[in-house]
Amino acid sequence: MVTAVAHTNIALIKYWGKRDANLIIPYTGSLSLTLDQFYTETSVNFDQNLDRDEVSIDDQSAANNSWQRVHDFLEIVREKSGAHLNAKVVSRNHVPTAAGLASSASAFAALAAAASKAAGMNLNNQELSRLARRGSGSACRSIFGGFVEWQRGTDDADSYAVPIDTPHLSDIRVVALTIEKHQKPISSRRGMALSVTTSPYYPTWVKVVESDLQSIKSAINQDDFTRFGTISELNAMRMHALTLSSDPDFLYFNGSTLDAMNEVKRLRHSGIECYYTIDAGPNVKVICQTKNVKEITTTFSKLFGPDKVIVAQPGPGIKYL
Ligand code: DP6
Repeated sequence: MVTAVAHTNIALIKYWGKRDANLIIPYTGSLSLTLDQFYTETSVNFDQNLDRDEVSIDDQSAANNSWQRVHDFLEIVREKSGAHLNAKVVSRNHVPTAAGLASSASAFAALAAAASKAAGMNLNNQELSRLARRGSGSACRSIFGGFVEWQRGTDDADSYAVPIDTPHLSDIRVVALTIEKHQKPISSRRGMALSVTTSPYYPTWVKVVESDLQSIKSAINQDDFTRFGTISELNAMRMHALTLSSDPDFLYFNGSTLDAMNEVKRLRHSGIECYYTIDAGPNVKVICQTKNVKEITTTFSKLFGPDKVIVAQPGPGIKYL
């Protein structure tokens, strides 16, 4: 049995759209920060006594759709490794409160690491990133700690994440506001497919992400937090504009999301520098520096309750236990 731990990541330049849905090759690159607070621990054991794959998630037998996704991923591992046995998979998400922060990124990164090793493959991190990508695109970034770039590539061999090795922006903090714990009505998988096929702005998004990526990398290089935060917030809003311009249109924000966005702007105008980013759900992540964490957590604790506010910092890459 092999056990692996992977941390989730938050994208600052978003991945939103697949060029190849089967291999999960994206239309654009993306850039993320791996976080210390939220992680998945997964054990895999290939066992000749099993007549089908057994999957448990957070101490419960996996529901049909989750079972299918894990099974499909194990099929890829079996095909690549030559292993043919069924597997027992036990996965646990570690999230401070039941706050809807469990993510497919940490889940498939941990599964890729544990399953490939249990099947006798000895993959390096680049190969592991390519494998994790097949489970969920964002998972390819969770193989590495800190800032990570997913280089979009054009095929299975050259679409993988690389760590951005930098001493800069090390006092960055992410204050997660866990406004809503319910499952999103439109998964990111469905949402991005709808945006690719129906938003008239999609071709513009592809162009804009290339320049946002260049700008954020130069902001990191220059240790420029203001530019870093500004580009992150802009890029997130550009992604959400693709949901509003899809047919049918859809939106991940709720009323509390808007309240949090307005509060971030108010704080910023009052001299507390912070920026927001939002993924495929109503929760807001506030990007800031250590010096302002206290003021920001106090403000949002008053607004949403202290149990809804979690402070994260840069987290590590994949680990085996
Ligand atoms: C908004 O990686 O969950 O979080 O590849 O279909 O599994 P699939 O999608 P997924 O999408 C993540 C979308 C996002 C942006 C990001 O993480 O880059």
